[in-house]
Amino acid sequence: MKKIGVFTSGGDAPGMNACVRAVVRSALYRNLEVIGIRRGYQGMIEGDFWAMDARSVSNIIQRGGTILKSSRSQEFRTPEGRKRAYHRLMEAGVDGLVAIGGDGTFAGAHAFSQEFNIPVIGCPGTIDNDLYGTDYTIGYDTALNTVMDAIDKIRDTADSHSRLFFIEVMGRDAGFIALNTGIAGGAEAVLIPETVTSIDQVIDKLEQGWARQKSSSIIVVAEGDDAGGAFEVAQKVNQKFDHYDTRVVVLGHVQRGGAPSCADRVLASRLGAAAVDSLLDGLSNLMVGVINGKVVQTSFAKACKYNQELNPNLLALVEILSS
Ligand code: F6P
Repeated sequence: MKKIGVFTSGGDAPGMNACVRAVVRSALYRNLEVIGIRRGYQGMIEGDFWAMDARSVSNIIQRGGTILKSSRSQEFRTPEGRKRAYHRLMEAGVDGLVAIGGDGTFAGAHAFSQEFNIPVIGCPGTIDNDLYGTDYTIGYDTALNTVMDAIDKIRDTADSHSRLFFIEVMGRDAGFIALNTGIAGGAEAVLIPETVTSIDQVIDKLEQGWARQKSSSIIVVAEGDDAGGAFEVAQKVNQKFDHYDTRVVVLGHVQRGGAPSCADRVLASRLGAAAVDSLLDGLSNLMVGVINGKVVQTSFAKACKYNQELNPNLLALVEILSS
């Protein structure tokens, strides 16, 4: 192996830059050339390549977003798109790839490495933490802290005005952000896609709090909850329970931005270096992750197919601590 390509794809996550830096610097250290592929799979199809050196990744470890930019390429979902991408890579002499992204990125990488003879290693980069094969994904810790900071601020105003707030956080299919920030932010209830939400139970909880003279309350709703987003849930609750003045906050893409936390920078650095090592070891079609402090490898098929389990004790804790 002489030349590798690195790209970021799907929703950006804080720490992606730290991971790109680690890939570039570890590869150069191992005497490999590095091509940065801009805009993920779309840039691969279009040959949007950048010959990177150690200085290309100076001063980016602390920056949110991704200097390589990102996209969700529809064209790469087609066999023709993947074929075009492969030819571009061959023209540029790229003989191995590091993909930094989430499940969509790895589903694409899986298809690609089945069809063409080019090794691909993935680094889990998504704020959702919804990949099997790693305890944490790059960006998750930073997003948790961003959300927690927002909840703390909302609590100040909720308390001042004796209001009920519904706060919507990201997580189309996963409740990791909602559950952990709900606990850290002292929420009354946390609604997540992994469990069936009963609006009546939410109302019961609020009634109990009201009876105990709770002057304000916060409910965290994951965007993918089966009862709907925060606006819909608020409306359903308000139809039967209207003791509080109610407000809804959708935190949205603010959760994806900002400087990565220390934990995310360290994770990204370790995994970027591990991805290069894995390519040099002749491996392919797998994601590197960290489980119990150790770097491990998991096939793309497993990483995307299996769900990382939510800790049921944490759900019980919300119930106990919100009394
Ligand atoms: O996958 C990461 C994520 O932030 C999800 O939590 C969210 O549902 C989605 O991306 C939003 O995607 P987009 O950037 O396309 O709005």
